Amino acid sequence: MIFDTHAHYDDQAFDEDREELLAQMEPSGIGGIVNVGASLRGIKASQELAEKYPFIYAAVGVHPDEVGALDEERLMWMYELCRRPKTVAVGEIGLDYYWDKEARGLQKQWFIRQLEMAKETGLAVNVHSREAAQDTFDIIKEHHAGTTGGIIHCFSSSAELAMEYIKLGYYIGVGGVVTFKNARVLKEVVEKIPLERIVVETDCPYLAPAPNRGKRNSSLYLPLVIGQIAQLKGITVQEAEAATCENALRVYNRIRQ
Ligand code: NI
Repeated sequence: MIFDTHAHYDDQAFDEDREELLAQMEPSGIGGIVNVGASLRGIKASQELAEKYPFIYAAVGVHPDEVGALDEERLMWMYELCRRPKTVAVGEIGLDYYWDKEARGLQKQWFIRQLEMAKETGLAVNVHSREAAQDTFDIIKEHHAGTTGGIIHCFSSSAELAMEYIKLGYYIGVGGVVTFKNARVLKEVVEKIPLERIVVETDCPYLAPAPNRGKRNSSLYLPLVIGQIAQLKGITVQEAEAATCENALRVYNRIRQ
């Protein structure tokens, strides 16, 4: 079974055919999907999807671009949602210095508060980091390492940094980018890190793997990502699929409880 550790099926890109598309998942071998919140609206929509579909789980979190919408009351609302049985992670949370939509101080403050929420509610984290590799790592090391672990989503740094995260107990999220011709560094990351620490993700509707690059992405394209991982690791597709699924269930351990 294939497990998609990071998707956004609440996105408007799926408004026209969401039900038909999600109905194809289980027959196509996609046995689990975590729909990740990014905004307050996305958090709510993720909960609704998780209520409706047995194979969809929810993550609760506010993306660094959206943290200006947070306050104490909304944080308390998120804490409540974290205690629901189908919530399996806090995310996506982190730092984004590429878009820099919110002041960096505010991004850091809410990243730390949401890491603390994950610890207190016993949930793994799903971390977004763009052009902010060092600050993200430093904050995780200081505020979250050795606690509930998590996934560094859409990993885009060096193999050395991936190994540092793995030492702290984290998993590396690999998606469509690994199939791109120019993704030399990410291919090297996949080659060098242990298979036991790789999970797959779509980040759909974005980042469709080759040869569908630029199209709307969905979990149905994950075999292309798994195929690339298998090739880089010199293992069979079945082995790559089984390992990445097992890893996802290990990091999102509430699913088995
Ligand atoms: Ni995302």
